[in-house]
Amino acid sequence: MYAVGWFFLLISSSLTIGFPYLMGQLIGSVGEESVTMGNALSKIDMNNVNTVVLLLFLLFGVQAIFSFFRVIIFTNVTENALKDIRKSAFERLIYMPMDFFNQNKVGELTSRISADILQLQETMRTTIAEFFRQIITVVGSVIFLLVISWKLALIMVATVPVMAIIAVFFGRFIRKLSKQAQDFSAESNSIVEEALMGISNVKSFTNELFILKKYQKSIDEIKSLNVKSGMWRGLFVSFIIFCMTGAIVFIVWQGILMTQGTHPELTSKSFSTFMMFTIMMVAAVGSIPDMYAGIQRSIGATENLMNIIHEKSEKDLLKGIQKPVINGKVNFEKVHFSYPQRKDIEILKGISLSAEENETIALVGSSGAGKSTISSLLLNYYSVDAGAILFDGVNAKDIETEHLRSHIAIVPQEVILFAGSIQENISFGNPNATPEEIKAAAEKANALEFILSFPEGMETQVGDRGIQLSGGQKQRIAIARAVFKDPPILILDEATSQLDTESEILVQEAIDRMMKGRTVFVIAHRLSTIKHASTIYVLDLGRIVEKGSHEELIHKGELYKRLYNMQCKA
Ligand SMILES: Nc1ncnc2c1ncn2[C@@H]1O[C@H](COP(=O)(O)OP(=O)(O)O)[C@@H](O)[C@H]1O
Ligand SMILES: [Mg+2]
Repeated sequence: MYAVGWFFLLISSSLTIGFPYLMGQLIGSVGEESVTMGNALSKIDMNNVNTVVLLLFLLFGVQAIFSFFRVIIFTNVTENALKDIRKSAFERLIYMPMDFFNQNKVGELTSRISADILQLQETMRTTIAEFFRQIITVVGSVIFLLVISWKLALIMVATVPVMAIIAVFFGRFIRKLSKQAQDFSAESNSIVEEALMGISNVKSFTNELFILKKYQKSIDEIKSLNVKSGMWRGLFVSFIIFCMTGAIVFIVWQGILMTQGTHPELTSKSFSTFMMFTIMMVAAVGSIPDMYAGIQRSIGATENLMNIIHEKSEKDLLKGIQKPVINGKVNFEKVHFSYPQRKDIEILKGISLSAEENETIALVGSSGAGKSTISSLLLNYYSVDAGAILFDGVNAKDIETEHLRSHIAIVPQEVILFAGSIQENISFGNPNATPEEIKAAAEKANALEFILSFPEGMETQVGDRGIQLSGGQKQRIAIARAVFKDPPILILDEATSQLDTESEILVQEAIDRMMKGRTVFVIAHRLSTIKHASTIYVLDLGRIVEKGSHEELIHKGELYKRLYNMQCKA
């Protein structure tokens, strides 16, 4: 299809050359009577003004039709290609290993991808075609100019396009200056924004003067850059007025001289045709550098996108293929782990723990001890450096990741709901979900009551990131989601730590109900929530320092006792 598009482009671009020719003939007819014209067209009477105008309209008509199909075809091809690129890029991203998201900021990634795709769209749809058309125009015009009068053509080629190119680069330099000024003004805007958003901080720290100074500095920078670019702009204007128009006047002068005398080198018709070609050519030459820059940017954008598409995803990195029956027996055997981008800091230093089927074990310890890291390892977000994690006796690295994750549910501290209905958020992409199952899950999670209190019930839209629901409500929807998934292994990572007492009771009740018949890892800093765990592991700086039931630890434990006493007093 693209080839057909190029065919149309070739035809419509070649016809472009006809325009200055016919226009030149038309304008040259003024005040001239009879001179025989070009041989190729000698059968058509170029002296008849009406014929020339008719030919011009014919030319426009054909060109219009070909351009129409060219645009349609190019747009189709472009949109198809972009659709594929969008899909591939997003597919890559969503299957990227966790570490990729530690290294790349999500906002940057999304804006980069959308900017890159926009750039490609622009280039594929129009810039390439325009670029090609202008090249044909320049080449065709030069040929015609040489044919009409090689002498005048040489004078022209030596001056006008050179001026045009100087003008283009001049213009670009000025734009670069104003872009710098723009960057600075973005910076100064962010100063204003930060200051106003955090106005209470600014005031309470009597920070006003400091921020004012910072702002002053950046607006000074903007001013001096703009003044500088103003000077260059002035020069640019003078240059255009003097040199560009000067060059054109020079050509016209030379051309007219050639039409003078008893044996003129040039007919006035040829002269006006020459001038038309010159104008066309100059315009084309002037537009080429920018288009070329656009194509360069698109090559860069393509490379960016291809880098993402060629990045190794979890599917390439995680080689496990086994699909064992997972009932919920989990063992950590001397697990050592450090995060991939900070290899020098070991976060887990030989963790061993075990959970039997349907057992509840708890992980406690101060913030930063490595509790959430353990839950990430359970989900196989990262691979261990040494030691092993076993699920029902099978090493996690041999288990197919999707299979493994389908047996684990996590209720995190901060729940993120997706834009969509409550029902969709509970079933979360499961196509086999029946309304009854979803309702049952919501009921178990203590969520049904508040869901049904909404006018639209299960169909209520939760809005972007769930902002229209309270923390406790979101938490209970997350629990309903986990109940619905019904996995043998459940992770609760500080699930209740951000709730007020009343929602905590409702959530805790739902959690207690959900814990039955599963292996549960409870991570909590409120120790009251883990008293009933059969084994409590106390973590400190990546090591298990104490282990036992609540009763045992309260008597012989040290860190646990200290943490417990601290909370009881609080
Ligand atoms: N994605 C990450 N990349 C690098 N270091 C991390 C990452 N996540 C957590 N850490 C570090 O690992 C340590 C343990 O963190 P975490 O397991 O979240 O602790 P917590 O016990 O509070 O849940 C902390 O020192 C933290 O700085
Ligand atoms: Mg944590």
